[in-house]
Amino acid sequence: MRKGELIFEGNEKQVFATDHPDQVIFRYKDVTVAYNNVKRARFIGKGALDNQISAILLDYLNRNGVETHFIERIGDQEQLCRKIEIIPLQVVVHNRIAGSLAYRLGVEEGYRHSNTIVDLRYNNDELEDPFINRDHAVALGLATYQELDGMYNNARRVNELLKPLFHKAGIELVDMKLEFGRASDTGAIIISDEISPDTCRLWDEATGERLDKDRFRLDLSRVVESYTLVLTRLKQVTETE
Ligand code: TYD
Repeated sequence: MRKGELIFEGNEKQVFATDHPDQVIFRYKDVTVAYNNVKRARFIGKGALDNQISAILLDYLNRNGVETHFIERIGDQEQLCRKIEIIPLQVVVHNRIAGSLAYRLGVEEGYRHSNTIVDLRYNNDELEDPFINRDHAVALGLATYQELDGMYNNARRVNELLKPLFHKAGIELVDMKLEFGRASDTGAIIISDEISPDTCRLWDEATGERLDKDRFRLDLSRVVESYTLVLTRLKQVTETE
């Protein structure tokens, strides 16, 4: 596989073309950003950790019947992925109230609810990723109602697969953000971004300690150590399966 030109440069990752028309290389950088890119830092080793964690989770989903863009990890900070057309939506799944949702609903962070909450956001930095509903998404031509139904069902299925996997690792999956894209080869709508401590809230079930990007957002220190713990525990549960 030959690495080609840089086709996308984000804050936290880069995407390179390859000599295969339907495949790209995803490179996870050591940079982390928060609060719509207002807060930024560099953590040596974070790109490699996100790459490994995301590879484990996306591979697990592929093996359990949820199509993702992930093909294989090809280096410390790189993975080979299917090429997609981006759908600028974020499907956010909440199992417990945390972050800005607590503020929005006027409840304490950590509030437990029995149902699964699914939020939809428009992935648009200028507008600060506003919450939208299905009608807005269809009005903007981002997806059809049928495609949105598929994304919601998929997001719930991902949650049903990953919640117990994290639980086996002694970690509570509090919430997560998923993105979807249209595969360039088949046109299917597939999961198409990382799933990692950068895009999930992960709380240690034994101690309640945060093991995700909130360590950076809230200046809690030990960012790399916490991501390493997540990787070690996920490796233990997936390697013994
Ligand atoms: P969400 O409730 O949408 O926002 P906030 O981070 O303000 O509480 O976040 C839910 C999860 O989604 C959380 O783990 C962070 C993640 N997320 C992203 O990874 N990227 C984003 O752009 C947004 C808005 C959320």
